[in-house]
Amino acid sequence: MSEPRVVVVVPTYDEADTLPGTLGRLRTAVPQADVLVVDDASPDGTGRLAEEIAARDPSVHVLHRGGKQGLGPAYVAGFRWALDQGYDVVVEMDADGSHRPEELGRLLDALGDDAGPDLVIGSRWVPGGSVENWPRRRELLSRAGNTYTRLLLRMPVHDATAGFRAYRAATLRRLALDEVASQGYCFQVDMAWRVVREGGRVAEVPIRFVERHAGRSKMSRRIVAEAFVRTTLWGGQETWRRLTARRRGDAR
Ligand code: GDD
Ligand code: MN
Repeated sequence: MSEPRVVVVVPTYDEADTLPGTLGRLRTAVPQADVLVVDDASPDGTGRLAEEIAARDPSVHVLHRGGKQGLGPAYVAGFRWALDQGYDVVVEMDADGSHRPEELGRLLDALGDDAGPDLVIGSRWVPGGSVENWPRRRELLSRAGNTYTRLLLRMPVHDATAGFRAYRAATLRRLALDEVASQGYCFQVDMAWRVVREGGRVAEVPIRFVERHAGRSKMSRRIVAEAFVRTTLWGGQETWRRLTARRRGDAR
């Protein structure tokens, strides 16, 4: 089989201090992968900076959006672009260096050829995974959120909110991307759950998540609230689906 075409989608909002370093490391670590930066008109000029990098490096592309609309819509736009361009593998990665480009090769290896999983998640919460320099309360939030998600959705994924992942393009094509309404970080849960419901296979590879050294996290109370409300609703839907399936006698 010929080498799969890989694109790494990197959403940015005010990442001028982190994006150049991350892209430099990425191009060194995985030179065969193209890059798509999806910028939401960052006030700090990240979009312009990305254009400068793209002008020097034809493997780097930039998608500009009108304003800050959240991680979900940025990724959906990036995925559409990637599918239009005919890539075989679509990667998600944060701009701030928390997802180490040096570990991407392991995610791509785990995705393997067509017989491999549909989605590979770089996971903090499986044996061998870790988090560096995160405040205690942020770690607790992530652990608690992931436990809640796993139990409620009965989804066998230990880091469903993780943003370092590799999708097979064929898997993304099967999902109704226009139905994805999640704006914040629950977009990640939303997508993992869609893959699982489609009968797709998810594999988790341990990663070392290193908290950013520059810039600021865009995590907010609103993002946490949206994740809680949506996950609870999805959990209700899942419970209902299982109950009615059992009543019809065709439970899985
Ligand atoms: N285009 C765009 N629009 N990009 C955004 C937006 C937005 O509204 N919000 C955040 N981003 C980008 C950031 O610029 C960064 O590249 C990436 O998304 C992650 O944002 P951070 O603000 O650094 O997230 P975090 O470190 O707090 O959260 C990490 O953990 C979350 C929960 O586990 C990330 O890995 C998330 O992906 C993950 O869901
Ligand atoms: Mn971050």
